[in-house]
This record gives sequence, C-alpha cells and structure tokens, in this order.
Amino acid sequence: MKTSGCPFHHAISDEFEPFDLTNPFPFYKKSREEQPVFFSEELGYYVVTKYDDVKEVFKDWKTFTSENAQSPFKPIAPKAKKLMEDQGLVGLSGLSGRIPPDHTRIRRIVSMAFNLARIKKLEPRIRELAIEMIDAFKNDGQAELVKQLTYDLPAYVIFMLLGVPKEDVKQVKSWAESRMLMTWGNLSEDDQVVHAENMVRYWNYCQELVTKRHENYSDDLPGDLVKLQQEGHEMTDREIAAICYSQLFAGHETTTSLMGNGIRELLLHPEAWEAIKAHPEMIPNAIEEVLRYSPSIVSWRRRSTQDSVIGGVEIPEGSNILLIMGSANRDDENFEGGDSFNIERKNAREHLSFGFGIHFCLGSPLAKLEFKVVLEELTKAIPNLRLKENQEFTFAPNTSFRAPNALEVEW
Ligand code: HEM
Repeated sequence: MKTSGCPFHHAISDEFEPFDLTNPFPFYKKSREEQPVFFSEELGYYVVTKYDDVKEVFKDWKTFTSENAQSPFKPIAPKAKKLMEDQGLVGLSGLSGRIPPDHTRIRRIVSMAFNLARIKKLEPRIRELAIEMIDAFKNDGQAELVKQLTYDLPAYVIFMLLGVPKEDVKQVKSWAESRMLMTWGNLSEDDQVVHAENMVRYWNYCQELVTKRHENYSDDLPGDLVKLQQEGHEMTDREIAAICYSQLFAGHETTTSLMGNGIRELLLHPEAWEAIKAHPEMIPNAIEEVLRYSPSIVSWRRRSTQDSVIGGVEIPEGSNILLIMGSANRDDENFEGGDSFNIERKNAREHLSFGFGIHFCLGSPLAKLEFKVVLEELTKAIPNLRLKENQEFTFAPNTSFRAPNALEVEW
C-alpha cells in the first residue's frame, strides 16, 4: 500500500493501486463510502465507483465520449509509436472507440450480421468443442482449467465466427495478448516495441481476412459483412477489418475471463456448484451473478467533452474518466449485500459489466451462451470438481481485465 508523503494529507487516491487487480474490492468499497469520485494522479483519470454515477456516464455518450476507450494508459515510446502509426494503428477501433454518426452506421450493419441466428448456429459446435476438451482430461483426476479449457475454447469459437482456421489459433491469441498489454498494461519501452510488432502482425492478418472474403464468400462474420457492403450498405474494407481486429480481442480474452472467474467463484462457494449441478436451469442467473460479482472487465474509459458534474464533483472538459464497473456492481444501494455472492439474486443482471447505452456489448449473448454450455457439460462430466487447496491465484497486472491466470482443480 502506498502512503502519502504528507501525514496530514490523506486522500483515497493514495491507496488506489490501479494495476493490481488481485483483490481490488475492499478498496472499491472504501471509495464508495468515502470518496466515490476522485482524481488519480498516477493515471491522470477521474475515477468513478458508485453504480448510479457509472451508469449515468455510460448513458450520456455526448458528454462522455468513448473515443479514449482503447488508447494506451501509458504513453507509447517513440519507436513503438512509429511502428503503429506507419500502419494506421493509432486510434483504430472497431466500434467501442467510435461515436455517432459513424458508430450508429457501423453498429447497425454489424448487428445485421452478428445476430442471434448466427450465434445460435454456433451452439452445436460450441458443445462439441466443450465435450471434446473436457473428455481429454476428465479421467486424469486433476487439471489446470485455464490451460486445458477456458483459454482456448472461446478463441476457437471466435475463430469459427470469423472463419479463422484452427491452426492459427495459438498465434493470433498471443497477438491479441500483446494488444491487451500495450493498451492496458504497464510495459517497458523495449517490451512496447515487441508488442507493437505483434499488433501490426495482428492487424495485417485481419486485413487479409477481408481481402480473402472479396475473392471467395464464406459463411462467417467477415463474409457477411463483405456481402452487406456489396449489397450497398456503407462500410469500408478498413472498417470491416477493424471489426475483425476488435472482435478477435473483445470476444476471447473477456470470455476466457468470464469462465475463469465463474468456475473459481462457483467452486469457492460449493453450495452454488451443488445447486447448478442439481438444477441446470439455474445456470443463466448464476452467470449473471458471476458477471456482477467478479466481472471480466473491472473498469472502462470515457472522456468528458464539456464541463460536467459526476456525483457532485466538477469534471472539467477534456478530463479522462475511469468507470469502475467492478465497484458499481457491488454498490449496496443497488444490490443488497453487494459483496456477497448469491446465484439466486433477483437483479443480478442489472450489473454494468457489459457497459450500458449505445456501446452495450454486442457479444454478450455469445459470451453467456459459451459459458452456459461449458457449465452444463462440466457439471455433468465432473460433478465432484473442486479447487486444489493452498493455491495462490494470480492476476495479470493491468487496469481493466481481471481473471485468474490459472485454476488448479481436482476430483
Ligand atoms: C464476458 C465477456 C465480455 C465482456 C465482459 C464484455 C464487455 C464489454 C464492454 C464493457 C464493452 C464496452 C461497453 C461500453 O463502452 O459501454 C463491450 C463492448 C463490445 N463488445 Fe463485449 N464483452 C464480452 C464479450 C464479447 C464478445 C464475445 C464479443 C464479440 C464476439 C464482444 C464484442 C463487443 C463489441 C463489438 C463491443 C463494442 C460495441 C459498441 O461500441 O457499440 N464482447 N464489451
């Protein structure tokens, strides 16, 4: 814990450790109680921790633009920056960093292609994959579930959606990690160059996906987007590639995290595991509760386009704002006993883990479907699953993406 230099000056921001997500929840609670909107000198961001305030900011996209949502927290050193600028990667966003009217136009077209029918079509293949992956270890008596299940499964699914062949999965997955670290991590200058090179490879890969769909239609998301473009819907190849670039990232890290956090919480609360085992129909609400209690993304960003007020605190025009959904979701004023895990909670789905308003996550039905299938199959195949004792859970250092790096289980 950091201490303020001056013994008489004590602000909540001195205790804020933005890159340490091991257990940020006690700090969030303290902030909600003592100073729900504060300025973090370390980040240069106003930090917002109460539910109503976070929701208001999400709702008001005009005053609080999302254009900074994907920009790096730490300044990028010149060498890495040049690499990215040369490829048009600075400021590139699929949807979440765009604003109307571009956002409205592109989101409408993407929603036509990425619809419930496309997601439903994936379900049998998701189930096949889950069964195959669980079968591979179910007779071993133990497993590391991140490595053996939750890390690859959502990647395979997103690659099916995007029409990327199975043999590319490991490679593209590691490029996507570079993007996560570059934007939300705390890298040295040398590491930045390595990761910037990976991001360029990742971007080139996405552009190639689109070029190939022009040569040959295929029944996948980029194929449908190219088809819609050819039918007259206004969307450039670069915009389609940017959607693929962001889906590859948005669609797997976050879902891997949902499963890691979810299985961990369900096993830390064995009565919850027993309940979903006996009553699989409880799984959907259990997933909402996992999303509320232990969200994959604990914070997301906005920037104020004019002078404004959040929770009584004046926010000058041009300020960066960090919305802490991981805190908002546990606000006792909105969720009774917010710090307790209860898979029967009636209003669990009111969490803000997928954002709110015009940018509300487009992939939430897919993420929830994947985890539902995994839980259905896992509870059936290994009903007496439990966490190995005395394991220390570690979390990648960054501001936003929270999930255990490993999950050692036995049965
Ligand atoms: C548990 C898993 C997931 C979580 C926690 C999550 C969370 C989020 C959040 C917080 C946002 C920003 C909302 C805002 O700014 O108001 C977002 C946007 C988005 N997500 Fe997800 N997401 C998940 C899975 C997915 C998946 C599987 C996909 C796609 C396959 C996806 C695609 C998107 C897209 C395209 C946007 C941008 C929407 C827009 O700006 O209009 N997400 N998501």
